[in-house]
Amino acid sequence: MGLRVAVIGLGRGAVLTVPALAAQARIELVAGCDPDPAARAGFAARHGVPACETVEALLAGVDFDAVYLASPHEFHAAHTLAMAGAAKHVLVEKPMAVTLVEAASMIRAAETAGTVLMVGPSHGYDPPVEAAAALVASGAVGGVRLIHAFNYTDFLYRPRRPAELDTARGGGVILSQATHQIDMVRRIAASPVTSVRAWTGGWDARATEGAFTALLFFANGAVANLTYSGYARYDSDALAGWVGEMGGAKSPAAHGQARALLAAIDERQAKAARTFAAGAVSSGASKHHERFGSVLITCEQADLALTPSGLDIHADDGVRRVAVPLPSIPRAGVAEAFAHAVLDGWPVPFDGRWGLESLAICHAILLSAREGRDVTPSELFPKVSERTL
Ligand SMILES: NC(=O)c1ccc[n+]([C@@H]2O[C@H](COP(=O)([O-])OP(=O)(O)OC[C@H]3O[C@@H](n4cnc5c(N)ncnc54)[C@H](O)[C@@H]3O)[C@@H](O)[C@H]2O)c1
Repeated sequence: MGLRVAVIGLGRGAVLTVPALAAQARIELVAGCDPDPAARAGFAARHGVPACETVEALLAGVDFDAVYLASPHEFHAAHTLAMAGAAKHVLVEKPMAVTLVEAASMIRAAETAGTVLMVGPSHGYDPPVEAAAALVASGAVGGVRLIHAFNYTDFLYRPRRPAELDTARGGGVILSQATHQIDMVRRIAASPVTSVRAWTGGWDARATEGAFTALLFFANGAVANLTYSGYARYDSDALAGWVGEMGGAKSPAAHGQARALLAAIDERQAKAARTFAAGAVSSGASKHHERFGSVLITCEQADLALTPSGLDIHADDGVRRVAVPLPSIPRAGVAEAFAHAVLDGWPVPFDGRWGLESLAICHAILLSAREGRDVTPSELFPKVSERTL
C-alpha cells in the first residue's frame, strides 16, 4: 500500500521538495494546505489535488497518512503536534523548530503516537555528502580530523517574510542556513559535538544575523570550521564553476540581482514570485547535485573535496575523481527514505533527536557569539530533557 501525503505550507520549500515526493513510486500526493488562496490555487493547478485553508480542515476533510511540513519554522511544532495527535507521520523541514523546548515536544508527541518524525530535506542529505560520510565510515581514508565548510550567498537579500529577519522567531542565517552546514559536518564526522565557539555578525538594515563563523569540536577529536555570509556580495559558487545550490548553472553576470529585485518591487510580491502562488516550479533534474558551498574534509590519509559531481579524493598518490550518480530527481533520496521509514519501518537518516541536536548547535552558535565563550550544546539539553523529554 502506498503512502498518502499532504503538504502543509505551499511556499518556496514546498516548490523545491514536492516534485520528489510526487515522483516517488510509493507516495501519493493527496492534498495541500496553506492560508494563502493564491498558494492553494497554484498548488492545486500544478498537482491536481485539492488544498485546504487550515490544518483543521485538512484533518477533518482529507484521508491521508503523512505530511510534509513546510510551513514557516514557527509553526513546525504546533503542526507536528496536531499531526501526531491524529496519528499522522511527519517529514518536517529544517530547522525542525525555533526553540529546543518545541523540538523536544515534537519528539515526545511522535514517540507517544508511535509515528515517524523525520527532519529534512537539508543539504546533509546531498548524495556527495552521503558518499563522503560512507567513505570516512569505511576507514579507507583514516579518521576525520578537520572539516571546512564555507558558503557566501545572497540569502539575506532574497525576498523574506518579517519572521525570517527576526532572530527571536528563527530568522537570520543561523537557524535557516547554518543548519545545512551542521547537518553536513555532523553526518561526515559521525560523532557528537562537544563544544562550539562562534562569532555572528549583523550590520545593516536587515537587523538579524547575516554572517557567522563557528568552530565545532566533536567527541572523536575532529573539528569543523563553518563560515557563512548571506550579504549578497561575494558568491562562493564561483569556486565551483558557477554551479548553484540547486545544482544548476549560474551566471556570474547575475551579481546583485537579489538586491536589485528587492529595490524594484514590494518584498511580499517578490517572495510570492518564487512560490506556487506565482506558478513557480523547481528547476528539476540538473547536471549536478544540489550543494551548499565548499566542503573540504581532511582525514588522516586523504583530503576529500565535495564537488558538484561527487567528490575528489586527494591522496599521497594523486587525485581521484569520484562521480556520485545523480538522483532521478533532486531530493529523491529524501522522499524514498520517508517512504521506507513509514511503510517498511526503516530508521530515518535524520530523526527528531538528530534535528534537536542540530538545533541545539544553532542555539550554541548564537549563545557563544553573544557571551563570547565556548558553549557545550548539551548544556542546553538539560533544560529540555528535564521539562519535556
Ligand atoms: N530544505 C530546503 O531546501 C528549504 C528551502 C526553502 C525553505 N525551507 C524551509 O521551509 C519552511 C518554509 O519556508 P519557505 O521559504 O517555503 O517560506 P515561504 O514563505 O515561501 O512559504 C511558507 C508558506 O507557508 C504558508 N503558511 C503560513 N502560515 C501557515 C499555516 N499556519 N499553515 C500552513 N501554511 C502556512 C505561507 O502562506 C506560505 O505559502 C521553512 O522552515 C524553511 O526553512 C527549506
